[in-house]
Amino acid sequence: MKKVGVAILGLGVVGGGTYQILTEHREFYRKTQDVDIVVESVLEINRERALALGVPEEKIASNIAEVISNPDVNIVVEVIGGIGVAREFVLAALNAGKTVVTSNKELFCKYSHELERAAKRQNVGLYFEASCVGGVPIIRTLLDGVQANHITSMMGIINGTTNYILTKMSADGVGYEEVVKEAQRLGYAEADPTADVEGYDAAYKLSILSSLAFHTKVPFAKVYREGITGIAKEDISYGKEFGYVLKLLAIGKNSEKGIEVRVHPTFIKKEHPLASVNDSFNAVYLTGDAVDDVMLYGRGAGALPTGSAIVSDIIYASTHSENKYSTFKNNASAEKDVKFVQDFESAYYIRLTVEDRPGVLAKLSSVFGKYGISIVEMIQKSAGEDGKVPLILITHTTKELSIRNAVNKINALDGVGQVDSVIRVVS
Ligand code: HSE
Repeated sequence: MKKVGVAILGLGVVGGGTYQILTEHREFYRKTQDVDIVVESVLEINRERALALGVPEEKIASNIAEVISNPDVNIVVEVIGGIGVAREFVLAALNAGKTVVTSNKELFCKYSHELERAAKRQNVGLYFEASCVGGVPIIRTLLDGVQANHITSMMGIINGTTNYILTKMSADGVGYEEVVKEAQRLGYAEADPTADVEGYDAAYKLSILSSLAFHTKVPFAKVYREGITGIAKEDISYGKEFGYVLKLLAIGKNSEKGIEVRVHPTFIKKEHPLASVNDSFNAVYLTGDAVDDVMLYGRGAGALPTGSAIVSDIIYASTHSENKYSTFKNNASAEKDVKFVQDFESAYYIRLTVEDRPGVLAKLSSVFGKYGISIVEMIQKSAGEDGKVPLILITHTTKELSIRNAVNKINALDGVGQVDSVIRVVS
């Protein structure tokens, strides 16, 4: 039986889950895959942690050189994260002729061209299923399952932390700050939640997924990004009155106008399949020209779900003699002839606080008219003590730039009021 030696760089949450799956399922893979996958080495500064997980002392390496010079190691798993030593170690492993499996979205998003070049030069594999949407097999789906299609659109809830926060805000009617604190206390959000709540994590993933879906490099810099820190609980509850649920959506589209990639809070109709993806669950909703709609749903993070993606990559690499690389020209930047849509179109939810007196609506209407913005629905709430009223509008599909111009114009009008929130709506 073929024997494959694995090294794990980093025994944190995901590294620990990977170690657990590999050791507990070793016999199962011998039976079902006809391959004996053995953890030959781990690199972990915290030796106590490695020992507590059951790693034999002699398998704990002291440095990367020891790992990559070990002839029994065929596959190196990188679960350190970030783009510092992780990049250095992954390149060292590839250059030493080891196949690499990584969960590192930032690394893959920013340096896939460099890593893939090294892998191809050495004729070794480079696998990254765990970099996007944890245990949900979206990369394999894009690389294999839906290759028959032109993928025209992709919408995903691909960050569990923000989905947890928005779900709680919606269910309990509480504000962002309060929920973030609770999420940190429960270990759902990092002590510094910036990467998640400002949409960076989702944007790294969208850059990778849309490059695979649209067969062209979609650099991180092309992804429009907006996080959830400005979301007020009022917006979530007013949205509900229109039948909407708020999600941090990653949206990728490929049409004759070009490629459009964006991550931002978005209202979707409560009947949409993505609307019922709650808590820390993730989902990706794809549309292909032949297959039509496909939705994948599951856990986007966690020791065992992410470990599941890593170990599936290890099995793939162990049981295929040909390596699988990306299906696009993997350069640092986008190809010159690919157009990216900057001024995208959407429907919009706009919340204003306005003076409650004659002529105010007329002034607002004239601004919307000037920029070609058509209103679908509107509600006005009762006046507060200051005599001002919340006014909430939903627009027809319009250009982003028109909305921005209209908002600036309204905010500059004397005695009308101000725009408090603008949230895009999937119509
Ligand atoms: N921090 C991510 C999330 C998981 O909240 O979904 C890893 O990408």
